[in-house]
Amino acid sequence: MSTVGPIVADLVIGGIRELVTCDASLGEGPLGIIADAAIAARDGRIVAVGRESTLRDVIVPAPQHPRIDRLDARGAVALPGFVDSHTHLVFAGSREREYALRAGGAIYQEIAAAGGGILATVAATRAATVDEPVNLALPRLHLALAHGTTTMEIKSGYALNPAGEVKMLESIRRLDELQAVDLHATFCGAHEVAPEYRGRTDAYVDLVVEEMLPAVAGAELARYVDVFCEEGVFSIAQSRRVLEAGARHGLRAKFHADEFVTLGGAELAAEVRALSADHLLKARPEGVARMKAAGVTAALLPGTAFFLGLPYAPARAFLATGVRVALASDFNPGSSMGLNLQLVMTMAVSQMKMSPEEALLGVTLHGAHAMGLDAEVGSVAPGKLCDVLLCDVPGWRFVSYLYGVNHVSAVVKRGRLVYER
Ligand code: NIG
Ligand code: FE
Repeated sequence: MSTVGPIVADLVIGGIRELVTCDASLGEGPLGIIADAAIAARDGRIVAVGRESTLRDVIVPAPQHPRIDRLDARGAVALPGFVDSHTHLVFAGSREREYALRAGGAIYQEIAAAGGGILATVAATRAATVDEPVNLALPRLHLALAHGTTTMEIKSGYALNPAGEVKMLESIRRLDELQAVDLHATFCGAHEVAPEYRGRTDAYVDLVVEEMLPAVAGAELARYVDVFCEEGVFSIAQSRRVLEAGARHGLRAKFHADEFVTLGGAELAAEVRALSADHLLKARPEGVARMKAAGVTAALLPGTAFFLGLPYAPARAFLATGVRVALASDFNPGSSMGLNLQLVMTMAVSQMKMSPEEALLGVTLHGAHAMGLDAEVGSVAPGKLCDVLLCDVPGWRFVSYLYGVNHVSAVVKRGRLVYER
C-alpha cells in the first residue's frame, strides 16, 4: 500500500489471512499475495488493497454514506472471482445417453455424424418454449456462482437459424439480469451446419454472414463471434469468412480451433487477431507461437479432454512459446458437462503439468484476457470490480490440491455478498 491520504470506501472486507490478488505488483510472488489483508471498495469497485493494519488508518466513509460496511472473512483465503471464458450454458434437453455410449467405445465425432451431438441439442432447443432454456440455465448459473464463477461467456449455437439464434442471445441477456454472474454473449451461429443445409455448408455460411450476423449485431446481442473450425464442420476458409464478417460488425473473434484435428485454427487465430483460440488439443506449437506474437490468448478446456477421454492439450509446449494460457469449463451437454473451475485447475496441474500459479491465473486474469475484460475483472486490484471469493482452506493451493469439493464459502460480486454457504 503506497497510497497517502484518505481513501473513500463503502465496504471493507477484512480478516483475510491470505489475499491472492493475481497482480504481481500488489504483493509477494507472481500471484501478488498479501498476508493479513483487507480490501476496500466503493460503489462495487475496489479502491485499495493491502495489509489490514495499514489500510485501516487510511479508509474514510463517503459523506453521503457515513457507514462503511464491514465483511469479516474470519481468516479465509481470498481470491479474485473466477472468469469462465468459454461455455455453452444455455440449451434445452440433455445427452446423458451419449455419455454412456462413449463409455462403450463410441467417439464424439461418430455420435455427431449419426445425428446425435450438437444436432440433438439443436432439435431440443428449437422445440423448447421461450422460457424453458432460461429456466434450465438459472440453476446452472447458481451452481457456477457457488463454485466461484463471477464472470462468464455464453455462446449461442443450438438453434442454427436466424430467429432461433437471436432468441438464444436474448435468453442470455435475460439471464444476465436475473442473477449475479455477469454474462457476456458470443454469437456462435456457425457451431454446426443446420440440418436443412446438410451438404451445403457454403450456403449455410452465407446465411450466417448475410442474415444472422447483421441481425445479432444490429440488436447488440453479442460481444464476440465464434465458429467451430473443425474437419467435417467449418473449414479454415469458411471460418475465416465468419470471423472477418464478425469483425466488420464489431464482434471480437474467439473460436473453437484445432479441437479434434490439426486444421490450422491456431494460425488462423493469429491471422485474424482473435481474442482467444480455444481447445487446441491438436494445435501445432508453431501455430501457438504465432498466436503469442499476435497477442491471442490460448484458452484450454481440460474438462473436455477429461469428459471425452482424450489426451490433454500440450500446455507446457504452448507455455514455452510465452503465450498467455486461460482455462475455462466449456460447459455443454455433450463434451463437458461440468462447471467447477476449481476442478478444472486440478486437471490443469495434475494432467497438463501447469503450475498451481499458472492454473489460478488461467481461471482469473488470463480468463479475463480471453474475454477482453482484463481492465475490469480477473484480479483483486484498485479500479477493478470488487469480485472476491472467500475460501475455507489453509492456503490458496488447497483450492485445487484438495480436489473434487467446493472450497468457496462466500462470493462477493460488485461489492455485494451474493452467496454464502
Ligand atoms: O466445445 N466443439 C464444439 N462445441 C462444443 C460441444 C458442443 C456440444 O457437443 O453440444 C465443444 O466441445
Ligand atoms: Fe465449446
